[in-house]
Amino acid sequence: MTAAELLQKAIEARRQSYSPYSHYQVGACLLCADGALYSGCNIENAAFGPTICAERTAIFKAVSEGKRDFSAIAIVGGPENIEESQLKPAYPCGVCRQVMAEFCSPNFRIYCGTPGEYEEFTLAELLPKSFGL
Ligand code: THU
Repeated sequence: MTAAELLQKAIEARRQSYSPYSHYQVGACLLCADGALYSGCNIENAAFGPTICAERTAIFKAVSEGKRDFSAIAIVGGPENIEESQLKPAYPCGVCRQVMAEFCSPNFRIYCGTPGEYEEFTLAELLPKSFGL
């Protein structure tokens, strides 16, 4: 599974976004060490607080299915009214970075952008000196 293929899966996941409040749609696709894929989208809520990001949807789906070993995640985001060809990189929020740190190694790969143009980070780059017990 290449980064570009994973990003394409994230674009497909973004189509399921439930975001009537922000009108900002995010998709993510998580690659497990065993090759399994878990995708997710952001799911908003009228009370705002219960809203969940695409990345955490994907990670929690995987953990709840017994997966704990992750290699990479691809993330795409953009306003609901733009063409998929116009998507710009979206970077994971602080809460999602902390959730990644709970389950992923510092070498976990994070791809932000589109299949044609993306940036690649390690979790250590996006969350240096992370908190842990
Ligand atoms: N969002 C994500 O899905 N992932 C992030 O890393 C940042 C933000 C969502 C949450 C909310 O539904 C919308 O984007 C606007 O903040």
